[in-house]
Formats: sequence, C-alpha cells, structure tokens
Amino acid sequence: MSRAAKVVAALGIDEMTERQARAEHKRLADEIAHHDKLYHEKDDPEISDAAYDRLRQRLKGVEGRFPQLVDMFSPTQRVAPTPTTAFAKVRHARPMLSLDNAFSDEELQGFFDRVRRGLERETDLRPDAEIALSCEAKIDGLSISLHYEDGEFTVGATRGDGTTGEDVTANLKTIRDIPHKLKGRGVPKAFDVRGEVYMERKAFEELNARQVAAGEKAYVNPRNTAAGSLRQLDPEITASRPLRFFAYAWGEAEPRSWKTHSEYLKLLKDWGFKVNPLSKLCRTPDQVRAFYRKIGAERPSLPYDIDGVVYKVDRIDWQERLGFVSRAPRWAIAHKFPAEQARTRLKDILIQVGRTGALTPVADLEPVNVGGVVVARASLHNADEIERLDVRVGDMVTIQRAGDVIPQILGFVPEERPKKTRKFQFPTHCPCPLKTKVQSEEGGVVRRCSGGLECPFQQVERLRYFVSRNCFDIEGLGGTHIENFFNDGLLKVPGDIFRLPKKVDEIKKREGWGDLSVRNLIAAIEQRRTISLDRFINAIGIPLIGEATAKLLAQEYGDVDAWLAEMLAAAKERKKKPDEVKKEKAADEVGASYGRLYNIEQIGVTTADAMCAFFSEGHTVDIIKDLRKQLTVEAVTRRVVAADAPLKDKIVVFTGELSSMTRDAAKARAEELGAKVTDSVSKKTSLVVVGENAGSKARKASELGIQTLTEEEWVKLSG
Ligand code: IVH
Repeated sequence: MSRAAKVVAALGIDEMTERQARAEHKRLADEIAHHDKLYHEKDDPEISDAAYDRLRQRLKGVEGRFPQLVDMFSPTQRVAPTPTTAFAKVRHARPMLSLDNAFSDEELQGFFDRVRRGLERETDLRPDAEIALSCEAKIDGLSISLHYEDGEFTVGATRGDGTTGEDVTANLKTIRDIPHKLKGRGVPKAFDVRGEVYMERKAFEELNARQVAAGEKAYVNPRNTAAGSLRQLDPEITASRPLRFFAYAWGEAEPRSWKTHSEYLKLLKDWGFKVNPLSKLCRTPDQVRAFYRKIGAERPSLPYDIDGVVYKVDRIDWQERLGFVSRAPRWAIAHKFPAEQARTRLKDILIQVGRTGALTPVADLEPVNVGGVVVARASLHNADEIERLDVRVGDMVTIQRAGDVIPQILGFVPEERPKKTRKFQFPTHCPCPLKTKVQSEEGGVVRRCSGGLECPFQQVERLRYFVSRNCFDIEGLGGTHIENFFNDGLLKVPGDIFRLPKKVDEIKKREGWGDLSVRNLIAAIEQRRTISLDRFINAIGIPLIGEATAKLLAQEYGDVDAWLAEMLAAAKERKKKPDEVKKEKAADEVGASYGRLYNIEQIGVTTADAMCAFFSEGHTVDIIKDLRKQLTVEAVTRRVVAADAPLKDKIVVFTGELSSMTRDAAKARAEELGAKVTDSVSKKTSLVVVGENAGSKARKASELGIQTLTEEEWVKLSG
C-alpha cells in the first residue's frame, strides 16, 4: 500500500474527502475481490472471516456516505442483488425429505434390524453380509437445496414443506461456502445439492453482542439466528451475517456417476463444497456406536451446534431398494444426542413485565457455557414452577439448552445448596413506577400488573413488540432504543415512530447516534410506511391474536378500514349484549359483525370477546387510528369462490398419508373447489379426509361426529 493509501485507510469515514473516499473505495473493492478469489477458488483464505467482514463493513460505510461511488462492480452490488419484497415459491424437483429419529439404543437397533430385513427381502443379501453405513454429524441448522445447471448456481430454496420451498437465491449467493460455479469433473448437468446452512457459535455470540449493543433483541440460539438471517428480504443484511454451509445430500442429479454416499461426499469436496469433516464409513453396528460416542465427546468443543449423528446406508442401489415411508427414507436415521446441560449459580430471580402486564420470573445466572453458548438468563415461567423446582436464590442449578428452546432450569443440586439461601417471594406489587397491585388470573398461575394501558413498562413492551421481526420489523430500532426514546418522551405510541423522521435533529443530539445511523433509521422507518394487513393486525398487539390469527383476519376482511369498521361494530354489538355468551347459539345472535368475527376458523367466543374488549377502549382505538393515518396498509386480495363451488364454505382437514397424490396437491384441489383447508379438527370442521396411518385427528373427527372420507372417496368426490 502507498503512503497516501495508508493515510486514507486510517481515516474515519466521516473525515474523508470525496477524493480520498474514491481511492479507499477502490482499495477495499480490490482487496475484497482478492480474498473472495482465495476463498472460493483456492479454498485457502489468508484472513479471518471477521477481518473480511470488517472490510465489507467499511466499504458499505464509504458507500453510505458517498452513494455516487456505488457501481455495478462494487462487491456490495455483486453479492447482494436488489432486495425482493417477498420470496417466490420453488417446487423441488425431488422432495426434500426429513429423517426419522432414534433416541435410544433400542431404537437404533430397530433401525439396523429393519434395514437388514428389508435388504434380505429386496436383494440377495446374505445373513452375515456387512451393511456399510456412512455416518456423519447432524448439523443443527436449516436445510436448503441449491440447483446447478451445467455447474452454475441458478436457484436456491429453503425446504419449506418438503415439496415447495422459498426462493432465497439472492441470500444464498452471499454465503461464501456456496460456490457459484462448480469445478472439477463429473458434475451432473442438472444438479440439486442439499445441505445445511448454519452459524458458528462464536459468530452467533458476536452477532448477538452487536445486536444488543445496537438495542436489538438477542437471538435464542445459532440455528434460529441462521434461519432468520437467511430469510431476510434484504440480501445486504444476510451478507452481514456470518452464515456457513455444509453439503451432504442431493436431489435431482442427471447424470449421476457415484454409487455410494461416501463417494458422493468426496466428489462434493472436489467440486468446491464444504463437507463436514466428522464423517466415517462404519461397517458394523459396534463401529457405528463407537462413532456416536466419539462425536458426542467432541460435541462441546466443536465450533458449531450438532444435535446427533446421521447414519445412511452407503450403497445407493440399496437405498433405492429400501425406499421411503411417508416423508423419511428407510435407509437413514438421525441418532439424537441428549440436550446439553451445565451447572451454575442462581444469583437472583428478577421480574419481567410483558406487554399484557403478565409478570414472569427470570433466573439471573452466573454466566455459564452450555455446549458452546454462554447463558446468563433462563425463564422460570411462573410462581408455581419455582415452587415445583424448589429453587432458591443462591442455589447451584442445572440448566439445559435444547436445540430450539430458551434455556431451561431443570432443578437445583442438593449437595451444593448453601446454608443461606433465599426463598423467592412473588412480589405483591408490580416493579413498574406505578407500583400497582399484582392480580392473579387463570387459577392463580398468571400474575398481572393491574396498571393496564397506563403502565409504562407495558407501554414499552408493546412498542418493542410493534417493531419486532414478525411485526413492523424496523431494522435499527431495537428494544434499548425504544426504551430510551420512550423514557425521554420521543415515543409514546406506535404512531410516534412514524413521526421520528421529523425529529432527526433531536435524535442526532443523542449519544451513539451519528449521521449515518440516523439516516439508516429513517430509511428503515420509511420503508415500513407501507405494510401488509396481517403484519399491521399482529403488531397492534391485540390480546390472544398472534401471527397466524392475524393472517386469517387479514384474509377475511381484506382491507384495513373495512377491518377496523367491523371490529368497532362487533365491539358495539357485544356491549349491547353484555351477558356471557357461553353457548355458540347465543353468540350467533349478538349481531352480524360479531358473528362474522366469531365464525372465523380458530377464533370462537373467547378470542372474539377479548377482541371486542380491546376495541371498546376509546384510548386504544385512538392510538390505532392515529397509526393508521401514518401508513399505507396493503389490501389482501381475497380468494373469490364461485357461488356454485361444490365445497363452498366447507372446512376441510387432511390427515394421514395419501398415496395417489401429495398433501399439497390435495389441499390445492380442495381450495379450487371452494373449501377452506385447515390443520386442526374442531367443531367447525366439515370434512376430514383420512389417509394411511392417521392418528389423533381421525379419532377426534369421529368423536365429534364429523364426516370422514377415505382417500378413494375423496378422489371420487374431487374428480
Ligand atoms: S440427510 C434424505 N445429513 O436433519 C436425507 N440431514 O432431521 C436427508 N441434517 O432435514 C437429510 N445434518 O436439515 C442429512 N448430515 C446430515 C444432516 C442432516 C443435518 C438435517 C437436515 C434434515 C434434518 C432431519
């Protein structure tokens, strides 16, 4: 680097002149291109991922201040194509299967026996012949499918329901472990490579630390973080998340040259993929068990989460003979590890106030490493749970981190209980500034702050919920910012968020806010001024209404103003009939708007009443109307069902395995015929189609006296 370039490289972005910025931009772009080449083509990076990320971060910063420098050759453009508004659907050429699990040695033995019996039946396998299994660590991430045409990466998709996934190509292109072009010989012309996107624990912790510093909510575990990062609508954000990829399977492969799974893994490496090094070809059940123990012992010190070991029959002709049952191959199994545990000291029990005022006790722990992730907090759920566990402040406790849950406290260690412990007393007053009395609900399990809409803790929580990922998802406006803005009077109600762009000068005066971060924040807010109806409904935080019900409401009412009018009308009707509406019959008599609401699948009396109570609060309605004025809420195009559609107004459930068609195809057909398809059987269900090996849903249907059809009858009915 020249002296002048060194001087520029040491400058802060805010200190540069445009000329200096231009030089620095070129230097960074060249350097990134150099490292990309080393990484992708030579498999031999010379700098750490973190150092690489810093280069990209700086480049982005320079472009943020000098947008005129962005050109099509900039690495920020290359890996991060234009943001998409939603993900397109991709149909997998071959379904993406899942795996059966074995948790015990008996279950594992069952797998060995089934494979042997199957092969003896289907081939001329001799009773004493070896069945080699390819054994590999089971990576705890999310599976994806990458399509290559003549060795070029074209489309990448999530698993979705196994048949159809979401097109996340732009995001996958930002992952450096995924080659854009395959090298070496023998690559199938049309090729789906399957594998796991994951995040290393260290990267997860660093990202989380940054998240928290930026006022955002911490993520639960590396797997969820990886999944969330991959499903970002803006590939720039995905690019800033350190995602990795291991390849381990295939879908379509024309022509396929390999005959065994272990051979395939070697080829993957030749073609430029990362393949997990923890794999071994085992020839006997004893070797398999030894491999499981070995990987289990290594598990805590691995840089990423694994949740078991996968065994696959190595010979592909044998795999084909064994085939599949429903969604899982008969030739493979996942042998799971138990959840990871650790011991630590319970320093204190804190009380958290949720957005509906519910008080939750939270364990404040001496930070401890649980299988590679540092845990300092764990939920204790409620007073009963603390009683049940008999944990006391000062205790040594055992905690567990299972793949996809918040850490849990399993109990205390009796031998290590100190002489002096403190029994937890549930507070009688809310820790909020109003110090309102705590009320018990639902048989005393839930305790709530009685401050309602006035309680500042609840107000902050509602705002936090409002900006969270499944609601308005405002990047750069995290929980801590919300709290600070709230405390300083910059924000009180959701509508205030959309007035922040007028308060730029005030925000800039605050510590930690610079030109760039304020500009980004305002851009993020402006981007959300247009929002889908279901997000809008979810974000308001109506009691008992979550993401799924918000979607149903959006479907039913289609338009925000129509929805609001109907909610107000329903609340009015309900107020006129204040007596308890216990019986469904009585519910229908409340009024047209109430009836329409209550008749929506999954709503019913309890939810409808909670919604009516919510919409009878004048104050609440004012807040929603104020918010509404700031936004463009996108209408939902409703499915138009012809008046003579044979299954119009029918609610249909499919259960069990269908043999003549996929579940998706059957659902689509039912919808074409005017039916609404749902997943759970209730009194409102009109028809249940029962396939092979159906379980509880079929039982429930017959208990409720709902009409059931066999697959054959369904085929006849649906044509
Ligand atoms: S093979 C037909 N191999 O585990 C077999 N899966 O529980 C397809 N997974 O959906 C899967 N590591 O997301 C396979 N080495 C590995 C794996 C693996 C992780 C995941 C994958 C799959 C899930 C099933």
